[in-house]
Amino acid sequence: MIIKNLLKMFIVMLLLASHITNISAADDLLDVNKATRINSERPLSLIGINQHGIDKTYSTAGFIDFGNAFFKQFGTNGRTCATCHVPTEGWTITPKGVSNRFEKTKGLDPLFRLVDGANSPLEDISTLQKRRQAYSMLMNKANIRVGIGIPADAEFELDAVDDPYGFASVTELSLFRRPMPTTNLKFISAVMWEGRETTLDPDSNDCIYGTATCFSPVSFDLATQANHATLGHSEALADLTQAEREEIVTFEMGLFTAQAYDNHAGKLSSKGARGGPKELITQTYYFGINDTLAGDYRTRAPFDPKVMSLYDAWSRNSSRLSNMRRKARAAIARGEVLFNTKSINISGVKGINDDLGVKTLSGTCTTCHNTPNSGNHSIPMPLDIGISDASRRTPDMPLYTLRNKTTGETIQTTDPGRALITGKWKDIGRFKGPVLRALASRPPYFHDGSAKDLTAVVNFYNNRFGIGLSEQEKADLVVFLASL
Ligand code: HEC
Ligand code: HEC
Repeated sequence: MIIKNLLKMFIVMLLLASHITNISAADDLLDVNKATRINSERPLSLIGINQHGIDKTYSTAGFIDFGNAFFKQFGTNGRTCATCHVPTEGWTITPKGVSNRFEKTKGLDPLFRLVDGANSPLEDISTLQKRRQAYSMLMNKANIRVGIGIPADAEFELDAVDDPYGFASVTELSLFRRPMPTTNLKFISAVMWEGRETTLDPDSNDCIYGTATCFSPVSFDLATQANHATLGHSEALADLTQAEREEIVTFEMGLFTAQAYDNHAGKLSSKGARGGPKELITQTYYFGINDTLAGDYRTRAPFDPKVMSLYDAWSRNSSRLSNMRRKARAAIARGEVLFNTKSINISGVKGINDDLGVKTLSGTCTTCHNTPNSGNHSIPMPLDIGISDASRRTPDMPLYTLRNKTTGETIQTTDPGRALITGKWKDIGRFKGPVLRALASRPPYFHDGSAKDLTAVVNFYNNRFGIGLSEQEKADLVVFLASL
């Protein structure tokens, strides 16, 4: 019996070893430049290897068009959109990918530019060693430096700046943020972390229920955003033409990315499960599809907290599967139920508790992540869950002290978020709830990359809201999030 078990273990080890070498070979293949060469300019799909398995991207165009303007240089510094939105890194960038690029190019790849790649535009980048230091936020957290000043008519002023890189000032705060994925954009209701590219349009149908507040279609905002990105990140001297903007937006909006294969559970669309990008393409979305307060804006159905329904089938176990696979699938299904139903006492969240005037709201993960099977907020509703709180500041982040011009009250924050757009005191620290698909492809998480993996995300919530998750529940939530 013992010998039989040892033999089994040995075989498993052999399998694992071969799996690992396959992965590193595949990793090479997945280098985006090589992928374009090998798979021609128009591969049918793209895969990325990540810690939990394999993610996959499809386009509604039927192929991924590497000839699109998204991959072209329009600026003066060698960058394209794909410099920071890498197809095999979840259409964003990861510290691993950034470091690889740094080592391969000695820190000279167009990603490494002073304008917003460096910790400060004034960094010394004359030697390899100095570049390593100058780009440390990019290397460690794959963060880009977004520079935004305080609006002149803001309700607050900048009382003090503690910027470890000695640059930030009232005219340009340095905000270290993760590039948001340029895939699954079908589902978004606001553009950018604090929705700064989201514009109002009284003639649109995308309106907050029961109010006169209506938003431009996301495709309209994305066209402006593409132009801003070209002028800013790529330091272009001229605007994109309307045709170029539309080409980029059509490309982006056709992309769908999701985890397709899990190292333990196997194919995420097998045995009745509906994970993976193909199913995602068919997922219905419209503005206000499942608002926590007003319900479905079109059908008038009440809010449905059962937001995720991909892995229902895996809660009924098939006895024909190996023990390991069965267990892994059951854990993902349990994680999905926890995401939909585990009770969370939501308190101290700006955008919820203050706006509704309730000290504690009894909710779940889906109170905020309410778009069906995508998990972002189904209307623009930036929230402050405390990510940029002074209490969570790490020494690599700047800290800003803001003073309320009327009350004299002060708040310390690493990123004022929405407040830099509206100038409103109550908007400090508010950010949008992102799309949660293909999470595994793009660590680290939150706007500042402060959670290095999904376990850190779950631990954050458990501590911040005192949820009281057991170790088993934490593990189940992690494998569920990783299978999105
Ligand atoms: C230097 C890196 C960099 C380059 C180059 C870049 N981006 Fe981004 N992108 C970012 C960052 C950082 C954010 C998030 C910034 C924020 O929210 O403050 C972002 C956000 C976005 C978003 C918002 C997605 C969402 O869910 O709201 C879109 C769309 C986008 N970029 C498209 C583009 C396009 C199109 C181009 C090329 C024209 C481009 N980006 C070039 C770094 C980059
Ligand atoms: C009170 C509202 C709220 C609740 C409850 C909530 N979230 Fe979030 N979630 C957000 C917001 C807002 C963000 C973006 C925060 C930021 O980066 O500043 C976010 C970000 C995330 C991210 C990071 C995504 C990325 O791309 O970086 C994950 C993962 C996540 N939430 C999972 C969960 C899970 C799991 C739960 C339940 C345990 C949960 N959330 C409960 C509002 C909420």
